[in-house]
Amino acid sequence: MKILMVCLGNICRSPMADGLMRKKVQEHKLDVYVDSAGTANYHVGGAPDARMTETAKRKGIDISGLQARQFAVADFDTFDLIYVMDHSNYDNVVRIARNEADRNKVQLILELLPNQMEIEVPDPYYGGQDGFEHVFDLLDKSTDIILNNLSHE
Ligand code: 4NP
Repeated sequence: MKILMVCLGNICRSPMADGLMRKKVQEHKLDVYVDSAGTANYHVGGAPDARMTETAKRKGIDISGLQARQFAVADFDTFDLIYVMDHSNYDNVVRIARNEADRNKVQLILELLPNQMEIEVPDPYYGGQDGFEHVFDLLDKSTDIILNNLSHE
């Protein structure tokens, strides 16, 4: 099983989702490969945003070693599940899908949460620290559900 987390810049939301998921599969000794990518190329090669890295660190997750990369069509071949953070990410990923099988791999990550009012993980880049905490909480809940789904396969 291979899971890809996707956002716009691959420096805030998807690295956090990636770090959370990696930690959880490791803790549960599951054979799952996790990675993340951005639909844009602005930050390729860069480290995650310092505010996200700090938020993650306080929660016991080290995302400092991640390096941003851009989503590519080959990711549809590599990954089984592709979780996107918002509708814009969804559109950008699905735009380069080659067929129905590619499209079927793509899902808004918050659709996993039952009774969820928000359907998009908000982009915290231009906001304050509370935005990063909120992103962490949403992604912590979502990755719990992914983990639970994997454990019951
Ligand atoms: P992310 O956040 O998509 O969660 O990594 C962003 C990071 C950078 C930019 C936008 C969103 N940017 O415009 O540079």
